[in-house]
Amino acid sequence: MRAAPLALAMVAAWSSPVYSSSLASFALDKVLADATPIFGSYVKETGNKAEWMKKYNDDTLLIHMNIPGTHDSATWNYSQATQDSLVGITDLNQVTVPVPETFRCQELSWIDMLNMGIRAFDLRYAFDPTNTTIIFYHSEALLSEIATLDDVLFGFYKWLDDHPSETLFLSLQYEGSTAKYASNDAALQLKLYNTLTSPVARNYFVQKKSELGTLGEARGKITLMRRFDLDQLASSYTTEMPGLHFSPTLWTDNDPNIALTYNERKNLTAYIEDYYQPTTPAGSNATVNIQWKYNATANHIVKATTEYPDSLFWTWASSENTDNVPPVWPRIMAIGNGTLTPKGGVNQRLVPVLKKQKGKRVGIVMFDYFDVPSDLIDEFLSL
Ligand SMILES: *[C@@H]1O[C@H](CO)[C@@H](O)[C@H](O)[C@H]1NC(C)=O
Ligand SMILES: *[C@@H]1O[C@H](CO)[C@@H](O)[C@H](O)[C@H]1NC(C)=O
Ligand SMILES: *[C@@H]1O[C@H](CO)[C@@H](O)[C@H](O)[C@H]1NC(C)=O
Ligand SMILES: *[C@@H]1O[C@H](CO)[C@@H](O)[C@H](O)[C@H]1NC(C)=O
Ligand SMILES: *[C@@H]1O[C@H](CO)[C@@H](O)[C@H](O)[C@H]1NC(C)=O
Ligand SMILES: *[C@@H]1O[C@H](CO)[C@@H](O)[C@H](O)[C@H]1NC(C)=O
Repeated sequence: MRAAPLALAMVAAWSSPVYSSSLASFALDKVLADATPIFGSYVKETGNKAEWMKKYNDDTLLIHMNIPGTHDSATWNYSQATQDSLVGITDLNQVTVPVPETFRCQELSWIDMLNMGIRAFDLRYAFDPTNTTIIFYHSEALLSEIATLDDVLFGFYKWLDDHPSETLFLSLQYEGSTAKYASNDAALQLKLYNTLTSPVARNYFVQKKSELGTLGEARGKITLMRRFDLDQLASSYTTEMPGLHFSPTLWTDNDPNIALTYNERKNLTAYIEDYYQPTTPAGSNATVNIQWKYNATANHIVKATTEYPDSLFWTWASSENTDNVPPVWPRIMAIGNGTLTPKGGVNQRLVPVLKKQKGKRVGIVMFDYFDVPSDLIDEFLSL
């Protein structure tokens, strides 16, 4: 009979102090499961691309590093099925619904991005339709009702614990035109502030303010890139925030050459290319749109290798021209439209540009469909 030993075993487990540490791991598992629709299914990987920063010394200045990133990182699983499942939750059903291709800018999850070398992420947030949790959108496309900002941050924290040699950059931006009555109000700003200054966030976000330091200071941590203002709260809240501030009031729209001063006292300026919608004549074909965007991006990458060596360069290789007829989706801009674009999209065209920059600083570059072509990130990481 096994009854007696089993009863004993149960008492032992019940009174064991080990129990509390497994409860913590069950709690983390639960949070990571909630994060899955945006973060992807957590899987621990080691090896070259998952730990590429190991080959750089601690005293390397972050401003001198080449950091591959993704634009609108949370859109990777947005499809017709996502859109259908959310009709009635947002007001998507009350307007002409743009097709999912309008919003989708990636095809791999964040855990894949991390393990494949991506170190900068673009997070577009707003309240969920009940004003309770902070979730992710691309314009009116609600990307998941389940995965909150809190949940996905735990995904990054866990990944950094597993890869202490690495450092991450998270750009956070308030996304407008989301749910019908959504607004960037004091309640949202306070919730965001609380999330980014919680005890666990203070542990994992680099606490330096308004300037970048060395890789050594940032390993195992996240640099916050604040593409938001806390303008509905007292100014002390802004003063408390770590990271760099890129005020949306200074970030000029659709500009191939932004110079944004993020630290007035020390006169620190970031040079940014964010020409996301080529101003081509109406009806221009995909090749022409790609050419215009490629030109702006390649010029900015070359500028990063030749000008202001001690300033931050942040290039957005991402773009769309969805107002054009026929619409040029982010995917077409990034990776082309088959035989209609013989030279490929912006990504294919950037590979030879990157090949020529060996040994040089190109800065942070945000891609759409970063995994195509497959040698894009390889070239980037071998710069
Ligand atoms: C991706 O979207 C599909 C369709 O909505 C859904 O079934 C699937 O669970 C999503 N994947 C993740 C990882 O959430
Ligand atoms: C959410 O907040 C907005 C702006 O403050 C408000 O107009 C809207 O009614 C709120 N929605 C809900 C469901 O409370
Ligand atoms: C600030 O730095 C820029 C170069 O990044 C320089 O052109 C400008 O003159 C500087 N301004 C001041 C006030 O030092
Ligand atoms: C190429 O980019 C440069 C710098 O951004 C700009 O001055 C020029 O007009 C662009 N040319 C074309 C054809 O887009
Ligand atoms: C992309 O290719 C498809 C299929 O050939 C075509 O219907 C569409 O018009 C093309 N779009 C652009 C912007 O070239
Ligand atoms: C795209 O438009 C340009 C300029 O009008 C033209 O030269 C080119 O042949 C067109 N490409 C295709 C594939 O139609």
